[in-house]
Amino acid sequence: MKTLLSICVALLLPLQATVVVAADAQPPKVFGKKGYFWDEMTPERAAVLRGGGDPVKGKESFRGCQGCHKADAAGVREGVYPRLTGQHASVLIKQITEIRAGIRSNPKMLPFVEDPAIAMEEIGDIAAYLATLTSVRENGKGAEDMSARGKKLFTDNKCFECHGKNGEGNAAKSFPVVASQHYGYLLREMKWIKQGVRGNSNPDMVKAIAKFSQGDLEAVADYLSRLPDYRTVATPVASK
Ligand code: HEC
Ligand code: HEC
Repeated sequence: MKTLLSICVALLLPLQATVVVAADAQPPKVFGKKGYFWDEMTPERAAVLRGGGDPVKGKESFRGCQGCHKADAAGVREGVYPRLTGQHASVLIKQITEIRAGIRSNPKMLPFVEDPAIAMEEIGDIAAYLATLTSVRENGKGAEDMSARGKKLFTDNKCFECHGKNGEGNAAKSFPVVASQHYGYLLREMKWIKQGVRGNSNPDMVKAIAKFSQGDLEAVADYLSRLPDYRTVATPVASK
């Protein structure tokens, strides 16, 4: 009897130890939950930013992403998969590391960006590669041109303070490029940020967009989708 008991205890002990480890693991701090603050630097993001990136290696590592984001990284026109070309490396690194950390929810993509599918060192390489690409494929736009209404909303609500007058974002502050992104993706992200369910929602953006109706969101998404690639605006080619 005594031996049986000690066997049971011996069996239980490792189990208990596992439970303790699981309880110690902190759930990710997401928008709306205690302890969340926007742009908290995770150790992984800091390490990737320090490590820099090699675009040649990044092109290789990007192979595993092509099934969804496509070989040219321009995503799909319907916007299920966003365009990644020309996005700031700092933004790409923030998004990928926060998806890996569970701060931004993306269950569909997680198995493809988690370790071991992608090693930490590859994140900087992929970001360096994607940031250099310009998209040649036409992006998805709204069903009708609502850009005049969208432009007014973008201006009146000071969206440009973070995303730039040409939708070029801000690399130093990790604010994303929104110009010539797919309409469907822009609309979905604005809804999720407005509702606070994107996980890494920026609280000031949540406020800026709080009063937007469905029609307002559609108009802004349409406007941004019709803005030219910010690179062609930021570095105008000398007239021929
Ligand atoms: C199974 C499909 C799938 C695969 C494979 C995939 N992704 Fe994604 N990815 C998505 C979806 C869907 C979204 C948009 C999620 C949303 O709407 O929030 C996304 C979003 C992103 C974003 C955020 C873009 C932004 O503007 O914020 C980045 C960056 C990204 N993916 C990079 C990658 C990289 C790098 C890989 C390969 C290592 C990869 N993805 C593989 C489906 C995928
Ligand atoms: C205080 C800065 C700030 C303001 C103001 C702001 N945004 Fe944002 N926006 C962000 C950040 C930051 C993200 C990405 C979220 C993250 O990385 O945590 C984002 C994401 C987005 C996205 C999704 C882009 C992507 O690639 O996933 C869209 C679209 C967008 N913002 C539109 C707007 C519009 C329209 C307004 C004005 C009503 C606005 N934003 C105001 C900071 C801001």
